[in-house]
Amino acid sequence: METHKQLTIGLFGFGVVGEGLYKVLQQTPSLRTSIKKVCIKNPTKPRNAPASLFTTEKEELLQDEEINVIVEVIDDANAAFEIVSTALRNGKSVVSASKKMIAEHLPEILELQQETGLPFLCEAAACASIPVIRNLEEYYDNDLLHSIKAIVNGSTNFILTKMFEDKLSFQAALLLAQQLGFAESNPKLDVEGYDAVNKWAILLNHAYGIVEHPDNVLFNGIQNIQLSDALVAKEKHLDIKLIAQAKKMSNGEVAAFVLPQFVKLDEPLSFVKNEYNGVVIESGFADKQFFYGKGAGSFPTASAVLSDISALRYNYRYEYKKLYHHKPLELATDFYLKVYVSFDDWKYIPREDFEWIEEWHAEADRKYLVGVLHVKQLSGSNWWRENGVSLVLTADAVIDNIDIVHLKKRSLELAGVI
Ligand code: HSE
Repeated sequence: METHKQLTIGLFGFGVVGEGLYKVLQQTPSLRTSIKKVCIKNPTKPRNAPASLFTTEKEELLQDEEINVIVEVIDDANAAFEIVSTALRNGKSVVSASKKMIAEHLPEILELQQETGLPFLCEAAACASIPVIRNLEEYYDNDLLHSIKAIVNGSTNFILTKMFEDKLSFQAALLLAQQLGFAESNPKLDVEGYDAVNKWAILLNHAYGIVEHPDNVLFNGIQNIQLSDALVAKEKHLDIKLIAQAKKMSNGEVAAFVLPQFVKLDEPLSFVKNEYNGVVIESGFADKQFFYGKGAGSFPTASAVLSDISALRYNYRYEYKKLYHHKPLELATDFYLKVYVSFDDWKYIPREDFEWIEEWHAEADRKYLVGVLHVKQLSGSNWWRENGVSLVLTADAVIDNIDIVHLKKRSLELAGVI
């Protein structure tokens, strides 16, 4: 019987995730995996581990021939990329949780893996405790993967839950998310959607072979959502969540974005509260499948890192099948979205950009409309993020190009225009 590889780890970072991993490894001696050295930035900070374990010299880990795995859980994306590329070039396997770094350097990371033949695993970088990357890699053929709809950021989901269910203020909810170790050190990354779109860029790669910089994926966070939007949602028996979506269009391209969205109360994602994440996959024959688990926090994130470490014992690596063995898919640019927009003044709304408007409510202080736009009207402008305008996708927002004429006609008939 083949014996498992002995792993000796060099760990970068001893924050929420690094310390969590240290504790989790102490509780799993069966893995026969040890941390030889931990590289940290600040040597004066008190640490819950023996002082002899720590160093501030990265080369002590990167040049140590006994260390065969580098685990990198720091939050400086540039430093993380340096560490990861040196580690791979020095013949070490890598486990990383740095979503920003991975999303921004995807082409280089793919190339380094090709060049060195070494594994680079990053399950903790998306949806923390939910094993979504390995599932997308191994289980779903992209021909059958019709759509993915997910909550991928724990902090924003936590804030929305606390604000709209427990009536906390935005600031109080954010503070709590920070205290509990869910938020990024710069919480703007969570609140304004950057963290979610970074994770989405990573998942689009494993799901469809798409290699796209997160700057090219349409996104927003929850910073513009108003209490009045939550009231409209309640009235219509809906929730508001920050949702990442990918949907195959009839031309084979993938419509993908991260935006706040109304969610029907009987949809599985409406059940996802607080720091939990959820992923709904729709695939040929299987129909819908739902993955649910903690998406942020020390132990849930460490559990994914631990699982990657464990997988290295039997030399697991991503094959990137969708990228190298299939025809990789591309992001769609020609589709339509049905949106709800609330605003204080009509002057902020370019009404002429809408294909049609189905509902408008101008009676209250806070006005709103529901209408259909081509996606390029959003990707090419900023009016929907400025001047207190709040844009929330409707529950079934994506309209394929081939359906638009028929839907427009039906909508105008219903409105009595034709
Ligand atoms: N800040 C991230 C979140 C941590 O809230 O989801 C987990 O990636």
